[in-house]
Amino acid sequence: MTNSNKTATLIVNGETYELPMYTPTAGPDVIDIRKLYAQAGVFTYDPGFTSTAACDSTITFIDGEKGELLHRGYPIDQLAGKSHYLEVCYLLLYGELPTVDQLEDFEHRVTHHTMVHEQMMNFFRGFRRDAHPMAIITGVIGAMSAFYHDSLDITDEWQREVASIRMIAKMPTIVAMAFKYTVGQPFVYPRNDLDYASNFLRMCFSVPCEEYEVNPILSRAMDRIFTLHADHEQNASTSTVRLASSSGANPFACIAAGVACLWGPAHGGANQACLEMLREIGTVDRIPEFIARAKDRDDPFRLMGFGHRVYKNTDPRATVLKQSADEVLELLGVEDNELLKVAKALEKVALNDPYFIEKKLFPNVDFYSGIILEAMGFPTSMFTPIFALSRTVGWISQWKEMIADPQLKIGRPRQLYHGETNRDYTDIETR
Ligand code: CMC
Repeated sequence: MTNSNKTATLIVNGETYELPMYTPTAGPDVIDIRKLYAQAGVFTYDPGFTSTAACDSTITFIDGEKGELLHRGYPIDQLAGKSHYLEVCYLLLYGELPTVDQLEDFEHRVTHHTMVHEQMMNFFRGFRRDAHPMAIITGVIGAMSAFYHDSLDITDEWQREVASIRMIAKMPTIVAMAFKYTVGQPFVYPRNDLDYASNFLRMCFSVPCEEYEVNPILSRAMDRIFTLHADHEQNASTSTVRLASSSGANPFACIAAGVACLWGPAHGGANQACLEMLREIGTVDRIPEFIARAKDRDDPFRLMGFGHRVYKNTDPRATVLKQSADEVLELLGVEDNELLKVAKALEKVALNDPYFIEKKLFPNVDFYSGIILEAMGFPTSMFTPIFALSRTVGWISQWKEMIADPQLKIGRPRQLYHGETNRDYTDIETR
């Protein structure tokens, strides 16, 4: 934390308080209110944390006004264009781009942890076949703490490292197993001669009765989706992971909490919700009806895949994915698909509509990722699991940073209480 010589002056009930301020390397200055309650006896009120920096971090920076996303200082478009997912994982986890040897060693470690404990197969089989894969994944990741006892001690740096590698390595296997289970096909074991994305595609789409060849363009598109979702600073699921781990919970329990939070339609569930919305719209001529609903204050309907809490300009991930979407659709020869026609027309209408322009509602990453994943053959229920797989490294990196932070404190927000004050219990007969 960099101290600045600026201070903020706050007057509470006629008393003046000087609050210290910090100047970050990027982003707005921060007012330190940690001693405010002790000094002035008041809380601050910020539901949704729209103005609250809850931690000190060096991992990811977003400038929502500029539409900029940096991981350890490197712009996301450069990483998506020139790097690949496992290199970005290394960067997020350790702070620097790896040398050739470091990358080779990291890839070797991840690759050699891809199998899951055989006993876990039984665990999967306890779920109903029609369960949502996110329900299965949340349960299975939580259960990892029952299988990997030697990486639960968060005070041991080596165990933290092992848990991190395990999570990144096993997540594709677990997500693919959840998929296979729900479609009633046999689980496919990972193959260590394949790269991360190709291995995942093979575990999802190969069946024992025929050979499966990974298409390099699809593998590249998959890797790009992973890369673009790798981290996104203090979003809802990451903050959930941080809050869960602030109590000292084990890493698998914390990641399971993050997965659960990601599932919601306002967060990682938006890619599924977006595709479902496109299906509901159905044909281009129905777009005006849905645009009108999105603008109607009395209608809870929102245009899924549009808007973002932080980006008030283009989502830079969406820009890269839009290009990927074009490549994948051309490769698969599905540009004439009705759903895609609706998506393209909707994008055009929304980008030119004064309501969306004024409120700065641009297509976000989920708008394009759903289109690509659909074209690749994933059912909508797999969209959020793929987001969870990709984001695991972000959760783990933020978790590791937090555990190593000497300022670590259990997260304990306060409240603005509007309930009843002290009143006496009355016996049931007299109520
Ligand atoms: N469609 C129609 N109106 C919208 C939308 C939308 N998608 N998003 C925001 N608005 C309106 C909203 O009604 C509000 O209007 P008013 O000022 O008249 O009350 C205004 O824009 C600001 O909305 P907000 O809810 O205060 O904004 P927020 O920053 O709290 O919400 C959001 C961000 C992502 C939850 C929201 O834009 C949304 O629900 N979008 C659809 C879901 C979605 O695509 N989520 C994926 C986000 S990107 C992936 C991720 O990071 O997880």
